[in-house]
Amino acid sequence: MSFTPVLAPYPLARPRRLRQSAWSRDLVAENRLHVSDLIWPIFVHDRDIAREPIRSLQGVDRLSITEAVKEAKEARDLGIKVLALFPHLDERLRTVDAKAAIDPNGLIPTVCRAIKSEVPDIGLLVDVALDPYTDHGHDGLLVDGKIVNDATVEMLIQQTLVQVEGGADIVAPSDMMDGRIGAIRNALEATGHHDTLIMSYAAKYASAFYGPYRDAIGVKALKGDKKTYQMDSANSDEAVREVAIDISEGADMVMVKPGLPYLDIVQRVSETFKVPTFVYQVSGEYAMIKAAVEKGFMDHDRAALETLLAFKRAGASGILTYFAKHVAQLLRN
Ligand code: PBG
Repeated sequence: MSFTPVLAPYPLARPRRLRQSAWSRDLVAENRLHVSDLIWPIFVHDRDIAREPIRSLQGVDRLSITEAVKEAKEARDLGIKVLALFPHLDERLRTVDAKAAIDPNGLIPTVCRAIKSEVPDIGLLVDVALDPYTDHGHDGLLVDGKIVNDATVEMLIQQTLVQVEGGADIVAPSDMMDGRIGAIRNALEATGHHDTLIMSYAAKYASAFYGPYRDAIGVKALKGDKKTYQMDSANSDEAVREVAIDISEGADMVMVKPGLPYLDIVQRVSETFKVPTFVYQVSGEYAMIKAAVEKGFMDHDRAALETLLAFKRAGASGILTYFAKHVAQLLRN
């Protein structure tokens, strides 16, 4: 049975009645933000310094391994379910062949082991892409000025396996190479990792909003741009095709990235596919709010909460956000 909702005319209908007080607004709220919606991205390094501030990401530090374990405990205690790990590598380990990405004793596998041994009940998500490991800062292997697809995918498979063997629960390919989800899924199945989750960065756009992240992982000067593999911000149908391909290749969850400038894509993907759809509120979105707050232009907590709720309203199952720990504290109070 279907019917067309009938709206009473004024003054029978006064929409403001429901807005008159906090209790009535809460009573009819259509969406809510919960701590378990949040995935917290953290940056780790293997130097002696416990915490090193990141200039362009106010309030976000690069963490030593010991410090990362401490933060994992705090996050778990706050109810955060998943941490996303990003490495800041020593300059000498960044090479043209990105071989540090496939080192079983590399930084990320080591961090995974350290966290899993002390905080086994928090989920660990790892990025799969070569940009923290290449000397040029691209996500794939660069040969004669081109990012080569299939040779990169071979590396991504190895990178996945060393990270999963270190204890990662969710692998999140963020590289946008073609065919990588299927290749990674097959490799996981073939090596007995039947339960490893794949959260595909399925609709990832070539974006100016990644600027502060590159500072965070220490990419000095990216040669060129990422437009031959990341999506053109003009496109929406293409996002639907990318997501369809990744689901058909074995992704358990998909992601749209960046967040706020692509809210239409979040909504379209979540409505079209009905699979868990995540969104990444990326570094530039976070930095923009921090900068405006610093100038006194808006309220920090209200702005942060409003953006996160917008993602829920658009249909996101969860959000990767640098605000996660702070917001978890706010939600607790
Ligand atoms: C790279 C990767 C990027 C981010 C996550 N993984 C940047 C890029 O593609 O250049 C961005 C995260 C952020 O900006 O917060 N594979």
